[in-house]
Amino acid sequence: MAKKEELTKIEEAIKACKLCPLAKGRTYAVPGAGNFDADIVFIGEGPGAKEDKVGEPFVGAAGKFLAEMLAEIKMKREDVFITNVVKCRPPNNRDPLPDEVQTCTTNYLWKQLELIDPKIIITLGRHAMYRFLPQDRRISQDHGKLFKLTSPKSGRHFDIFPLYHPAAALYNGGMREVLMEDFKKIPRVLKKLELKQNPL
Ligand code: URA
Repeated sequence: MAKKEELTKIEEAIKACKLCPLAKGRTYAVPGAGNFDADIVFIGEGPGAKEDKVGEPFVGAAGKFLAEMLAEIKMKREDVFITNVVKCRPPNNRDPLPDEVQTCTTNYLWKQLELIDPKIIITLGRHAMYRFLPQDRRISQDHGKLFKLTSPKSGRHFDIFPLYHPAAALYNGGMREVLMEDFKKIPRVLKKLELKQNPL
């Protein structure tokens, strides 16, 4: 099956998913949005209230800030793929439970990542980062650094670049500046990875 068809099939499965209790509380599942051939996949923790109402990721204030930062590096939302660790909003924005994360990532997120095959995965916020990096990592020290991530599905290696969450940085001047500076590193980091993946 062609990549686009497979990714569309996964999106349909997410919209109809009843594999975990989060399905009961959702208005819409939020599979993700953007370019299936993107070099960059952004991963947040889970849909918030606004995202749940429309079925699209990062549509609130954090999403607007994300779009502003993308514009700084001459990119648009449509150029990247944006998704979340879990695809349904946890009640009252509580943290998703380990079982919910396990079910959702095994059935959906890893498949999306394998198919899109991005050059870099950018996690937004400490919760998304902790889903992929060892628990002793600290976002305050490890934001804006490159790490390796191995897919439990295929053993394929991904490069992962954790950043602060735009919602956390939005009203915190210091963090906002750090996030913007990290964001500006993205084109350089991508170039470096491209050269490593396809040496001259
Ligand atoms: N915060 C997230 O982590 N994900 C969204 O989709 C929106 C806000």
